[in-house]
Amino acid sequence: MITKFENSDKLCERAQEIIPGGAHTYSKGADQSPKLGPKFIARGKGCYAWDVDGNKYLDWGMGLTAVNLGHCYKPVLDAVKRELVKGSNFQCPSPIEVELAEYFMSQVPGAEMVKFAKNGSTVTTAAVKLSRAYTGRKYAAFCADHGFFSYDDWFMGKKANNSGVPGEVADLSLTFRYNDIKSVEELFAKYPGQIACVILEPMEFDYPQDNFLHKIKDLCAKNGTVFILDEMITGFRLGYPGAHSMLGIQADLTTWGKGVANGFSCCLLAGKKEIMELGGINHKKERVFLISTTHGAETHALAATIATIKAVKENNLVERNMKMGETLRKGLEEAINAKGLAEYITIKGHPCWLLMQFRNEKKEFSDGYKTLVFQEAVKHGLLFRGAFPFSLAHGEKEISKTLKVFGKILKVYKKAIKAGGYESFLVGEPVKPVFRKWN
Ligand SMILES: Cc1ncc(COP(=O)(O)O)c(C=O)c1O
Repeated sequence: MITKFENSDKLCERAQEIIPGGAHTYSKGADQSPKLGPKFIARGKGCYAWDVDGNKYLDWGMGLTAVNLGHCYKPVLDAVKRELVKGSNFQCPSPIEVELAEYFMSQVPGAEMVKFAKNGSTVTTAAVKLSRAYTGRKYAAFCADHGFFSYDDWFMGKKANNSGVPGEVADLSLTFRYNDIKSVEELFAKYPGQIACVILEPMEFDYPQDNFLHKIKDLCAKNGTVFILDEMITGFRLGYPGAHSMLGIQADLTTWGKGVANGFSCCLLAGKKEIMELGGINHKKERVFLISTTHGAETHALAATIATIKAVKENNLVERNMKMGETLRKGLEEAINAKGLAEYITIKGHPCWLLMQFRNEKKEFSDGYKTLVFQEAVKHGLLFRGAFPFSLAHGEKEISKTLKVFGKILKVYKKAIKAGGYESFLVGEPVKPVFRKWN
């Protein structure tokens, strides 16, 4: 039973004194972890991770879904090492930039040009900027039901914690609901000829209903609006190359990141040449300063990307993980039903990225119960934060282990429901929403 987090807690305290938020994404912050849980991870191998107190976990976080082959996956590390010893950054571009661009375009239909960056936020923001330049319009519409697109103003301006974003800038972003085509139609009706782009993920944990994506695409085409699909999490995970291909839809622009480089830092903006080439230096139109970053083409990260995409393809990762996910879902649902908890714990999503949701005695979504599950998972060696992002390293053994641990977690859950609350079972506070105004 894992109960000691001394080194984690010390580092966590120190980090918060010298690093705002104590981490470099709010999703890794201490407020996202149960008190009885690791706050710092020292190393990983395959689908296992070790915290700074030496505790070993079956990792269901996988670098916020960025690691889809497993930690330290050898063919990717070998490709990185080969590139590292040649140097990582030069005065001129490196040939690997053209190699990756060509390879990516050969794998992703509709990618007629491609541009690299280090962060997902950079490429989604670039997609919005490019759309504004291409259309000469100012409004950007994004899906309010999807978790995150960028830490930049066009997205954060609409969130509760929008301090630092001028209201005038926030007003240039519009929101709509997933699977609610009326909410998209209303935007086009209210802002005729003024919407530069519509951006959303092809899907998160809900599949598109009633041709939702195709209807958006038609509305965009009819209104001269750029249609952007963000494949950051779904790319090379829910389908090959992405969820858009699985769902039979093509966008004008797509954005990619997590899942393309097995945890190394490479993100991509891809799409129609007619739009992308505005960022080029050979046309006669007004110039768009698209993505321009010193580190955007760091050579070993590009090598990691080529090796990762090849491994995803060669291992038929999506099909393999779909089978794994189906098995896990079935096992979990059987256990949940057997415990009589079907009204409190539900599972949804694509088999390669399942989401578990937790409700309280009143059947309302509950961060308290969710945190109780995280806490109990840690005790028995699972690093679980609500979803199951399968990697190539997760196999039958890990599914059995997960089911065994959930057998124990469900007992505690049931006791808490019977007792009328999670409070006497959870040590510390529930996790908090990342998008909140006050700490
Ligand atoms: C769908 C989606 N888009 C964009 C981003 C932003 O990526 P990054 O954190 O690399 O800036 C994220 C990150 O969570 C994401 O999940």
